[in-house]
Amino acid sequence: MSKITSIDGRILYNSRGSDTIEVDIISENKFMGRVCAPSGASVGKYEAVSFPENSPETGLRRLKENAEKFIGLESSDMTAIYDALKSIDPTPNYSKIGGAVAFAVSIASAESASRAQNQPLFQTLSSKSNFKSPFPLGNILGGGAHAGPGTPDIQEILVCAIGAKTVRDAIKTNLLVHKELRNILESQDPHFTNGRGDEGGWAPKLNNEKALELSAKACENLGYTLGQEVSLGVDFASSTQWNTKSNTYEYSRAGFENSPAEQIEFVSEMIKKYKLIYAEDAVHEEAFEEMAELTAKFPDTLITGDDLTVTNKDILANAINLKSCNAAILKVNQAGSLYDAMKFAALADHNSIKLITSHRSGESTDSHITHIGLATGSKMLKIGIVGGERVAKLNELLRLSEHDLICGMAEV
Ligand code: PGA
Ligand code: ZN
Repeated sequence: MSKITSIDGRILYNSRGSDTIEVDIISENKFMGRVCAPSGASVGKYEAVSFPENSPETGLRRLKENAEKFIGLESSDMTAIYDALKSIDPTPNYSKIGGAVAFAVSIASAESASRAQNQPLFQTLSSKSNFKSPFPLGNILGGGAHAGPGTPDIQEILVCAIGAKTVRDAIKTNLLVHKELRNILESQDPHFTNGRGDEGGWAPKLNNEKALELSAKACENLGYTLGQEVSLGVDFASSTQWNTKSNTYEYSRAGFENSPAEQIEFVSEMIKKYKLIYAEDAVHEEAFEEMAELTAKFPDTLITGDDLTVTNKDILANAINLKSCNAAILKVNQAGSLYDAMKFAALADHNSIKLITSHRSGESTDSHITHIGLATGSKMLKIGIVGGERVAKLNELLRLSEHDLICGMAEV
């Protein structure tokens, strides 16, 4: 038992250099949890807002004004923390205090509890007695909302070392593919600047098809066969392209448009040609039926909702009813608090929806989501490949793989 004795916060910077909120929660005057919130660039329409009125200061001020609501609560009592947050902000999307505050308060409280219990956070968050390491899923090439003009319209090409037997092998393999892709990009374009997008994937001047072709080549140059040692994935982030007026997907950089039927064809061709193990938001965030078409068509690919499901339990329930996906992204700050996210995870688990715990494009150097990925039984951890804020999470996965309770890799 450890009761919260203090709560405080401050404005810090995230990996994009934008303001964000960090919260410190101390239990029994000595056990501190400290969490700095991330934020997205290609945000879903129905996710929790990051900051009230777009102002981190306002979120922080409202937290400080209500600090006494948390004092005396059990730091391990996720429901009590959630109730306190809801007493300050009853809105469904945390529009009064912001998802950043909900994220930081709820995870800092759990971390403080884990310190008091003298155990790692993942253990505090789950009653399981054994855990599997999720496979790191990393961005090797980026475009869309994460990179500038000239880059592909599709947001992320990802690699996952599905044949790896250990976390170290999985991380190393992803790193090798990322490096080999740079060699290829340099040889194709002598003017390639080695520029990278927000999540560390290369940001070359390429169209969608060529970007995938070169990503596949990077894997093949290393002697890997797609679908065996490694697989590729794509986050289409299709809501970025979706135009609600014309009802088409506008690939403005490549210069074409897809009708909803053509989009399914476009995605299907890529899944088949590159044996994609992973396809995220392949259609826009309200196209539940079209997602269901893809889910039925590709049972061996993780047809994944991100903007579609926004870590929202009610939206996931709808997606489950309509068989819209077989996998879902878990981003705590989309849901708001850790309590909301764990409810989402439980519903996913109950319905055999595979979870992928994910970073945001604007990240902190924290590594709590690595623990959350383990505790929720996530199959993959989408946490990037390079960049300090990404490596912090990968390194934590390596450290945790030494723990007695973690045996082997997840089954994807
Ligand atoms: P975001 O995007 O963090 O910029 O919202 C990441 C994603 O779409 O997966
Ligand atoms: Zn996404």
